[in-house]
Amino acid sequence: MATVTFITYDGEKQEVPFVEGQNLMQVATDNAVSGIDGDCGGDAACGTCHVMIDQQWAAATGSRNATEAQMLEMNPDCQENSRLSCQIALSAEHDGLVVNLPEFQF
Ligand code: FES
Repeated sequence: MATVTFITYDGEKQEVPFVEGQNLMQVATDNAVSGIDGDCGGDAACGTCHVMIDQQWAAATGSRNATEAQMLEMNPDCQENSRLSCQIALSAEHDGLVVNLPEFQF
């Protein structure tokens, strides 16, 4: 079973399963990952699904789309590896993906 690991700001790890085709935000909310709200349901309109991609997974997760980039620009915690998790569609190549959570969602 393919899994993704979320690491909280405090360093707590939560490894959860995913099904190909889900987006990363859905996986987090389906598995009650603390720190991912996903208030807009995945429309890149709320910014409450912010994650930072582990360095070794940067290429596999691609780059921000235009709407996502606009949302992240408004986030005071935005970092170079920041993404909106609802904009990352998961496939088999993402098995083992590791992402970090910010201290707060805005
Ligand atoms: S769920 Fe709202 S921006 Fe991702």
